[in-house]
Amino acid sequence: MINKNDIKNFGFLNIPVELNKSEIVEEIIKLKKEKNAVILGHFYIDAILQDISDYIGDSLQLSQQAADTDAEIIVFLGVNFMAETAKILSPDKKVIIPDLNAGCSLADSCPYDDFKKFVEKHPEHTVISYVNTTALIKTLTDIAVTSSNAKQIIGSLPKEEKIIFAPDKNLGNYLNSITGRNMLLWDGACHVHKEFDLNAILRLKNENPDAKIIAHPECEQPVLIVAEHIGSTSSLLKFTKENTADKFIVATESGILHQMKKASPEKIFIPAPGLDSTCGCNDCNYMKLNTIEKLYNCLKYELPEINIEEEIRIKAYNSIKRMLDISKSLNL
Ligand code: 13P
Ligand code: SF4
Repeated sequence: MINKNDIKNFGFLNIPVELNKSEIVEEIIKLKKEKNAVILGHFYIDAILQDISDYIGDSLQLSQQAADTDAEIIVFLGVNFMAETAKILSPDKKVIIPDLNAGCSLADSCPYDDFKKFVEKHPEHTVISYVNTTALIKTLTDIAVTSSNAKQIIGSLPKEEKIIFAPDKNLGNYLNSITGRNMLLWDGACHVHKEFDLNAILRLKNENPDAKIIAHPECEQPVLIVAEHIGSTSSLLKFTKENTADKFIVATESGILHQMKKASPEKIFIPAPGLDSTCGCNDCNYMKLNTIEKLYNCLKYELPEINIEEEIRIKAYNSIKRMLDISKSLNL
């Protein structure tokens, strides 16, 4: 029985599901068809959820799918900023997410009031924000970027343009180093990516000299310095498919390993360890709030739903639209 207070109290529908996993999967496939719904899943969600998604991808690919879909309902298996981006792009569609608690520490590291003051202090700067931000931060943003297109979008701006980059200082530093810019950086970070332990990674490399270290640009600079390939989740996946090495030490959230193993079953993937070996820190606890049971309830009852005030949505839309238009013109 549906109790709307569940959403207020828990952030998801707290309804027990009396089916086994494979029955739940079957029901989800049926419901999806009946309701003309599409499931968009990020690479960091659990394997069972990746396998039931209609599209699986990085932040850029998923926002492109959200902008293009004919489905009436978008079910987002990721975190809130991704579902918000889908709603900003497709306001006439119903966008639902299994658990509203699926936030993002990086988005949280950039509070609206503080960032507004920062932007107002530097009025001559163009504001570029990583897509891992709230809709409110996007209203202060000129162009959104993801880790797949940031380098090219920044490169498309005149060399003398003054730029603020937010919220990830690790990605910002990395972009400054590869573009030769001197962007003003917001001091934010992701709690998963800043935890990778350089010494443990080097120990692993020592034990596996034939393994290639690959890292997401949200990692701290010392990890990026030793990485042999740096890129977005889709770029890391592509690298493991195309590179001749048969072992990889992977410094990003562990969910991506599912697609890597599927694409290259003969290769070995070693998750990079975090500073605290007991914490499972290379799991994003927000991404992992998505479960098959919550997905079933979410699709069945079409709750919880993402809604954004129209005034905020329109302002936030401009920055994402610019990102998608530039990406299209650059064939990204
Ligand atoms: P990608 O855009 O590379 O998929 O990264 C999203 C993210 O949240 C990384 O932590
Ligand atoms: Fe946010 Fe980090 Fe989780 Fe990515 S891994 S969704 S940046 S908290």
